[in-house]
Amino acid sequence: MTADSCNLVVLISGNGSNLQALIDQSGVHGYRVAGVVCNNPSAFGLQRAARAGIPTAIVEHGNFPDRETFDGALLEAIDGFAPELIALAGFMRILGEAFVREHAERILNIHPSLLPKHRGMHTHQRVLAAGDKEHGVSIHFVNEELDGGPVIARSRIRVREDDTEASLARRVHRLEHALYPRVAGWFATGRLQLGDGGVYLDGRKLPSAGIETPAPTGA
Ligand code: GAR
Repeated sequence: MTADSCNLVVLISGNGSNLQALIDQSGVHGYRVAGVVCNNPSAFGLQRAARAGIPTAIVEHGNFPDRETFDGALLEAIDGFAPELIALAGFMRILGEAFVREHAERILNIHPSLLPKHRGMHTHQRVLAAGDKEHGVSIHFVNEELDGGPVIARSRIRVREDDTEASLARRVHRLEHALYPRVAGWFATGRLQLGDGGVYLDGRKLPSAGIETPAPTGA
């Protein structure tokens, strides 16, 4: 894998603003978005891919009788793009164990919370309900647990008194769009690995909370 040849396949289910950030910043980070796989035929992210001339594959879970056949079709679609790195970007299906096993060590996920806090859905709402002072984004390697794999990097904001779910979603998205292409770039250029018992960046084992990266100005 050379600096400019890492094939990235992005999995989406909806809006695809992280996909857009990955596409827009691919030139500077050493990967190319080789394909987009989506489980929802009306996802706006598919239009983003088409606009950028990136091939797409739709694997609709409703069209399959069970988990195993859906996973098989998903794997086939992803493998069709010869991925070296797979990035889940708002992909709202839990990946099957067989899928994760097949691609262990090269699947990333982005999650809108400071993991291990607030795994799962509705994180902005839960941050407000819990009265958290801080919120943010985490990027982690995927394992069989939902939002539970080893954390690579986090970026945070202070929750403001007047924040709402919508404002938090907007502010966290800004963190996401800065962080995801960077982390994909670390992997693409050989700096990031899932290794023996943890995550390694530039040969050094990261703490279990990952590396802290500053929020972009204005977030
Ligand atoms: C992002 O905020 C991402 O972190 C979240 O879905 C959103 C997708 O936005 N993912 C999860 O909640 C995964 N557990 P996008 O479609 O605009 O990129």
